[in-house]
Amino acid sequence: MRSIKTRDDSITFFNEKYQEAYHSKTVGAIEEAEIKYIKPCNLKDGMVILDFCFGLGYNSLAALMKLNQTTIIAIENDEEILKQIETIEVPKQYQEKYKIIKQVAQNKEFDHGKIKIKLILGDAKEIIKTLTQRFDVVFFDPFSPKKCPELWTEQIFKDIEKLMKPGAILTTYSCATQIRKNMEAAGLIVKDGPILGRKSPGTVAFK
Ligand SMILES: C[S@@+](CC[C@H](N)C(=O)[O-])C[C@H]1O[C@@H](n2cnc3c(N)ncnc32)[C@H](O)[C@@H]1O
Repeated sequence: MRSIKTRDDSITFFNEKYQEAYHSKTVGAIEEAEIKYIKPCNLKDGMVILDFCFGLGYNSLAALMKLNQTTIIAIENDEEILKQIETIEVPKQYQEKYKIIKQVAQNKEFDHGKIKIKLILGDAKEIIKTLTQRFDVVFFDPFSPKKCPELWTEQIFKDIEKLMKPGAILTTYSCATQIRKNMEAAGLIVKDGPILGRKSPGTVAFK
């Protein structure tokens, strides 16, 4: 897997199967997690987070940088990308918390005091139908709607909406019109998310 150094010195990869990078190549990969995924969430200790498409774990990492107490349920279907996590060196300020992400990638679980993370390996479409937790925050981060349309459907958003607490927020990088229509058809209230590095915003959706 080809690695790419991004503008904040964090590493991302290029996925040959999807012909797409795991993060935008024009901004920092961890920066993208912090601005597009964390900034709109008003994260508070105790919140329960769904990390839908864990990848390199940067969205969960960015959440751990803000929280002393949380439960994260993460979903990922590719063992190869989880193996790559072992090889990644993140910028210094993230190293301590990325050790947790490395443990999660290896053991599929981390449960120390107030931080609990469970990584479920498999198809996100199927796994969300089996979850019983209720979430305050959803990081929605599949490959793009063009490359991975099966994860951006109305049905997926309906399944996720059922798992969101009233007032919960979903954050994502895409602002594609059809995606927003699918979110609205699932009952979510859709707004512009933060802009980073290009003109179009991300999307935030509320229950
Ligand atoms: C854009 S990347 C996620 C980046 C990640 N959030 C991060 O911070 O590094 C999309 C991820 O979705 C995963 N994926 C693709 N199809 C999937 C599926 N059906 N179920 C679960 N994960 C899937 C890919 O393996 C990839 O890791």
